[in-house]
Amino acid sequence: METVVSGIRSTGNLHLGNYYGAIQNFVKMQHEYNCYFFIADLHSLTTHPTPADLHGNVKQVLVEYLAAGIDPEKATIYIQSDVPEVAELYLYLNMNAYLGELERATSFKDKVRANPDNVNAGLLTYPVLMAADIIIHKATKVPVGKDQEQHLEMARTFGNRFNRLYKNDYFPEPYAFTFGENLVKIPGLDGKGKMGKSEGAGNAVYLSDTPEAIRKKVMRAVTDGGPTTENQTKPQEIQNLFDLMNVVSTPDTYAHFENLYNTMAIRYGDFKKQLAEDMIIATAPIRDRINDIANDADYLRKVAQLGADKARESARKTIKEVREIIGFKSF
Ligand code: TRP
Repeated sequence: METVVSGIRSTGNLHLGNYYGAIQNFVKMQHEYNCYFFIADLHSLTTHPTPADLHGNVKQVLVEYLAAGIDPEKATIYIQSDVPEVAELYLYLNMNAYLGELERATSFKDKVRANPDNVNAGLLTYPVLMAADIIIHKATKVPVGKDQEQHLEMARTFGNRFNRLYKNDYFPEPYAFTFGENLVKIPGLDGKGKMGKSEGAGNAVYLSDTPEAIRKKVMRAVTDGGPTTENQTKPQEIQNLFDLMNVVSTPDTYAHFENLYNTMAIRYGDFKKQLAEDMIIATAPIRDRINDIANDADYLRKVAQLGADKARESARKTIKEVREIIGFKSF
């Protein structure tokens, strides 16, 4: 069975776009592959979170992934910092990662531009740590978005370089695993593109949002002055709301409002009210599970322990072999 690895950024709550997109695919993949999903808390140190923020964010992400359907018995879900072997492999890979190629990474250049006062070495070697994350389990598939394509190419470079240096084919090449058409596009509420947390407040609906918060956000969503001819093409901001309704409402409800739009009888207030209520219903079970799991310290401890045990078993094996390949020997 092929091995899949994916790192989850330990900042930001899950929104509907994450849930209906990547997460649903993770949930499916856990039945088909040997999956390792981890919370990338070492990576997050590049921005120097406080200890309380660091822990709070890790907990939030763990809780939400479990609530969304990641099964800790099927997939290995773990916290990166629980597996020190990753940091050890990162050190070895750093010896053969070169300043020029690290400086050329787009993500590095973006971060330097955004935070010129915090250009630390961890930021520079972020792709090396990411390569260690992946190849420590000898993964061949990495479910990530387009923005991670260059990082994956670097992971292949570092793995191949290790192989060449030590004249073996120890590490397989990891490739991006894109879902293509399976990826449902979830638009945001700002009338523009997709849902995302960086698109400004109110654009994204979070799984942890209260029903009140969801109602407020949806009622504030951008609309136009209404259709002026029958069966006209919907402007993007209206199409977006219909696309969201298509995901959370019943086909009957969707058809009802589409008909009202086509006959110029739609009232956006009613339309948005319905959309908000259906969003609340669609997310209610996850919201409940988020609250239950967040309050179950015992369960969280067990899940983290199980994940760490499984991930370390795999990582330890790799590190033992890597140490032998490099030439570390006990007397
Ligand atoms: N860089 C990824 C992101 O920003 C997170 C990540 C860290 C990751 N390590 C990884 C993703 C390993 C896949 C595999 O989303």
